[in-house]
Amino acid sequence: FQSKTLAGKRVLITAGPTFEPIDPVRGITNLSSGKMGYAIAQAAWEAGAHVTLVSGPTALDAPYGVQRQQVQTAQQMHDAVMAQVNTQDIFIAVAAVADWRVANASDQKIKKTSDSDTPQLQFAQNPDILASVAALPKAPYCVGFAAESENLLEYGAAKRIKKNIPLLVGNIGHHTFGKDENELVLFDAKGHQALAKADKQSLAKQLIDHISGELRGAHGI
Ligand code: C5P
Repeated sequence: FQSKTLAGKRVLITAGPTFEPIDPVRGITNLSSGKMGYAIAQAAWEAGAHVTLVSGPTALDAPYGVQRQQVQTAQQMHDAVMAQVNTQDIFIAVAAVADWRVANASDQKIKKTSDSDTPQLQFAQNPDILASVAALPKAPYCVGFAAESENLLEYGAAKRIKKNIPLLVGNIGHHTFGKDENELVLFDAKGHQALAKADKQSLAKQLIDHISGELRGAHGI
């Protein structure tokens, strides 16, 4: 038996990497598998929520019951989120969004012209999706993720405040990308709380329980 702690709630989740094109056949991405975000989407659906998952390219099937929208770039992920965030109660940003895109991406495949000539890539900053949502006048309850490689307790608490969000989730293992297990620390205004190493499905359920508890506490639902 699982209680439907998010019945009637709408949850929007980003997951996976983004893919930033260099030319029509090449691009820049990262090692995010999407497993943590997909597990959270599944757990939110199991808790009774209507769940929309905006996902970068992954090898994963859409979780049962979840509406998935597939995107490639950070800009597309941003636009998909901003188009529907107004109707959401909870936004969980799990995606490993590329900080930069290639500003001078080529419409045609870049040719190798000589042995010494190398293409010169220029970069432009991508929008911060989580920050854009958190800055909305009627922002949903926002949850961010952080993958710090050191000083997680210090950086995690600071990042939550800088991002202006009620809950930030820190990955303890900085080599969590692609793995089936993870270890998390939850940072909120009261302090921090560790969730011991477990598979991502179990951690996702614990996180969803925590979020629904916070929403009930703070907003009396
Ligand atoms: O600042 P940093 O990239 O470490 O923050 C990570 C958090 O911000 C994650 O929740 C990630 O999904 C979100 N993020 C985002 N858009 C970006 C960069 C990060 O939504 N362009």
